[in-house]
Amino acid sequence: MNIVLLGAPGAGKGTQASMIEERFHLVHISTGDIFRANIKGSTPIGKVAKSYIDAGKLVPDEVTCDIVKDRLAADDVKSGYMLDGFPRNLFQAAELDRFAHIDLCINIDVDVSLLLDRICGRRVCSCGESYHVSTLNGATACKKCGGTLYQRDDDNPETVGKRLDTYFNETAPLVEYYKNQGKLFTVKSGKQPPEEVFAVIAAELERRSGK
Ligand code: AP5
Ligand code: MG
Repeated sequence: MNIVLLGAPGAGKGTQASMIEERFHLVHISTGDIFRANIKGSTPIGKVAKSYIDAGKLVPDEVTCDIVKDRLAADDVKSGYMLDGFPRNLFQAAELDRFAHIDLCINIDVDVSLLLDRICGRRVCSCGESYHVSTLNGATACKKCGGTLYQRDDDNPETVGKRLDTYFNETAPLVEYYKNQGKLFTVKSGKQPPEEVFAVIAAELERRSGK
């Protein structure tokens, strides 16, 4: 099964992707993680992406679509994947439909008032795991790989405000796009703890895969 994970910044896309990957063995592809790895490696893509990410804007479509197209040509995605953070506007969604087949869009719906605290309290690992300071009890190492946790440069109140504007102006219309395609599954309980959100998603994935 090929899935698009949709949701505002801080909705829990990465958190749920990690749980879905473990249970359903779908490959997790996060365009945000790909850009951050490129920034860390000072690659040409990283140099382009950094200015947009720091400004809370979308990295240009031609750069982003090429990255995803190349990634989906690899052998490891043949038995199913999750796209986390792509597509992010109607152009990217139409492009994706040209080079891939999407079965399902999972839209995680969370009240916007919760997002600032979630994002500004987030600590991440370069392996892709994310945590919230409220559950870390002072730990500074990733529970999955032992890497050192850090705060993303774009996880500050000013940039978060811009990311939310970008989400509502450019990404939110994708809810209607996937609804019109009959592929939308909205998780209305996105404000519940991660395990409860995952239980809703897992039940839907099991129902669809006939388990
Ligand atoms: P990206 O990395 O995709 O960031 P984002 O969409 O802003 O989403 P986040 O990663 O902030 O949130 P999330 O939903 O993954 O939440 P998480 O699970 O971590 O993109 C970054 C930038 O890259 C973009 O701004 C853009 O510039 C660029 N970019 C990326 N893709 C692009 C594209 N396609 N086109 C153009 N540009 C692109 O959870 C957040 C926090 O909440 C954590 O602390 C977590 O522990 C906590 N939490 C999670 N779930 C729960 C829960 N149920 N209850 C309580 N706390 C929870
Ligand atoms: Mg994320």
